[in-house]
Amino acid sequence: SKKAFIFDLDGVIVDTAKYHFLAWQKISDSLGIEFTPEHNEHLKGVSRVRSLDIILDLGKINATQQDKDQWLKQKNEDYLAYIDAMDESEILSGVLNILQFLKEKEQPIALGSASKNARPILEKVKLIQFFDAIVDGNDVTNAKPDPEVFLQCARKLNVKPEDSIVFEDSVAGVQAANIANMTSVGIGDAKILHEAQYCFPDFVHIDSSFLETLMKK
Ligand code: G6P
Ligand code: MG
Repeated sequence: SKKAFIFDLDGVIVDTAKYHFLAWQKISDSLGIEFTPEHNEHLKGVSRVRSLDIILDLGKINATQQDKDQWLKQKNEDYLAYIDAMDESEILSGVLNILQFLKEKEQPIALGSASKNARPILEKVKLIQFFDAIVDGNDVTNAKPDPEVFLQCARKLNVKPEDSIVFEDSVAGVQAANIANMTSVGIGDAKILHEAQYCFPDFVHIDSSFLETLMKK
């Protein structure tokens, strides 16, 4: 039977997590806030606005809306400068193989991302044609761990949530998939993503027999 295969974008399909980190680090440095890779784990999958609030909380900074708007604008400009230089070489290992395999098997594929920059990134790395549905930060009101983004994906693909599989690198995203009653597959560190039903360090470690098992379930 047909399953919905839903992919997060940042840190799953492309290695943009490092660019988000660098752009946030520049803001936190300028505010004198110590912002480490460990802190950054909690920003993965989290919306732009919420990410800034978390960073300001770290530095115990109370800011006006005007200041916040300025920092959000700055962060996105810096991030977009990194994105502008991207090409297919930044597709994470194993991703292309998996997308091609799922296409051959005629499985519906969706993108479920919190990013408002999702479409231009997919175009940059020339993967947009693989996706039957795209739900991104422009479409959802409730951010991960709220399951809204993934539920919208399943609805667009006309597949039940319980027949959907989510690939995620963030704690919030794994939680969203679990709350949506979908199969959660963590991509990254199994210690951090311990709530995922399955976890792999990357897509190279996911073989076709695992995908076929998911399809038969
Ligand atoms: C993804 C990333 C987050 C990012 C969010 C919003 O979930 O993991 O780090 O903050 O998207 O992205 P945007 O491109 O809209 O700032
Ligand atoms: Mg991610």
